[in-house]
Amino acid sequence: MSERVRFRDGGNARGLTPALWDSHFLRACRGEPTARTPVWLMRQAGRYMRHYRERRAGRGFLDLCKDAPLAAEVTVYAREWLGVDAAIIFSDILVVLEALGLPLAFAAGDGPSLSRPIRDAAAVEALRPGVDAAADLAYVHEAIRLTVRGLPADIPLIGFCGAPFTLASYAIEGGGSRQFTHTKLFMYGETAAWHRLMERLVDTLVPYLHAQVAAGASALQIFDSWVGTLTRSDFRTFVEPHLARLVARAPAGVPLIVFGTATAHLLDRFAATGCDVVGIDATTDLDAGWAACGGPGRVAVQGNLDPALLLGPRGRLLAETDAVLDAAGGRPGHIFNLGHGILKETDPDQAKALVERVHARPPLSAG
Ligand code: CP3
Repeated sequence: MSERVRFRDGGNARGLTPALWDSHFLRACRGEPTARTPVWLMRQAGRYMRHYRERRAGRGFLDLCKDAPLAAEVTVYAREWLGVDAAIIFSDILVVLEALGLPLAFAAGDGPSLSRPIRDAAAVEALRPGVDAAADLAYVHEAIRLTVRGLPADIPLIGFCGAPFTLASYAIEGGGSRQFTHTKLFMYGETAAWHRLMERLVDTLVPYLHAQVAAGASALQIFDSWVGTLTRSDFRTFVEPHLARLVARAPAGVPLIVFGTATAHLLDRFAATGCDVVGIDATTDLDAGWAACGGPGRVAVQGNLDPALLLGPRGRLLAETDAVLDAAGGRPGHIFNLGHGILKETDPDQAKALVERVHARPPLSAG
């Protein structure tokens, strides 16, 4: 497998504009010093914002995702209102499963549901053949094109996809899960079909990511939100080869972030995929997580404030924000973020205060 050239090693191979190339966010992704710590928040456009709720009123979540001008508006608005250093395209990881032929619905108040979960090898073979991400997910790429036009020249847009494990878990469970019992049983009991499913997902995701970058995304994030449920040994056997293949074939010339929760035992393997930035969730200390990844000389890190702190008193929020910055210690290659997505109960003013606090604290000295 030919290795993707990491963003810090490849120069400006894609010809990004100087404003983007020198942006705080992309510099930090390359492990270069920045005048301030870049910050963005996972799920920064969502129900905690009144603007989002208004645009969402009277339509389904997926309808909003598929309405490219509206998805772009929601993306640009949240970025601007918060004053964050990057935007992330408004969409969802699960639209890829729909393109693969699995009926997907978001019922009000509940999470996603897939009415025909994959429970046997035949269901893997029955996935829609010949999925063409550029055509079948054209609405995502159109939303990216429109968003880039609406963003300031120095604000990168992050494209994204779900990782093969996390997508497979939704396809097999039929929705969200706590224990991932069906997923693990499938992995252990239908091992050949499991690997086939992971391959089908990666084969679909690679062109999807390339089309996102062609449309104007200048960074990518792979969400492996639930892979932390696996032991290290199972991760290495059933998941790592597929995640590594996805990273190796992802577009070079833009940074690639790999994120999951409860992944303290996997962080070194994330770094070994060849990605540029490793997302660290709130249950791991940022400095310990960075060390596990091989330190600033190897990869950049993103994280890791507990999103629940945004619900609590302002003083504690800001003190813990400072603690995350202290853990990074002003070393180049830290992107401030939450440890997971912003909660829908969050007061938007709290989120704004967090962003202002991060921006007000120049990185110490890089020493
Ligand atoms: O970060 C952003 O602002 C970009 C938009 C984004 C959404 N989903 C919008 C969304 C991103 C990056 C995602 C990724 C996603 N989707 C993940 C990985 C990240 C994570 O949180 O771990 C996962 C697991 C999903 C699947 C998904 N989509 C779930 C489990 C849910 C229901 C839970 C919830 O928060 O409601 C969704 C719905 C969803 N995706 C919403 C948003 C704004 C809420 C939908 C609504 O308006 O009702």
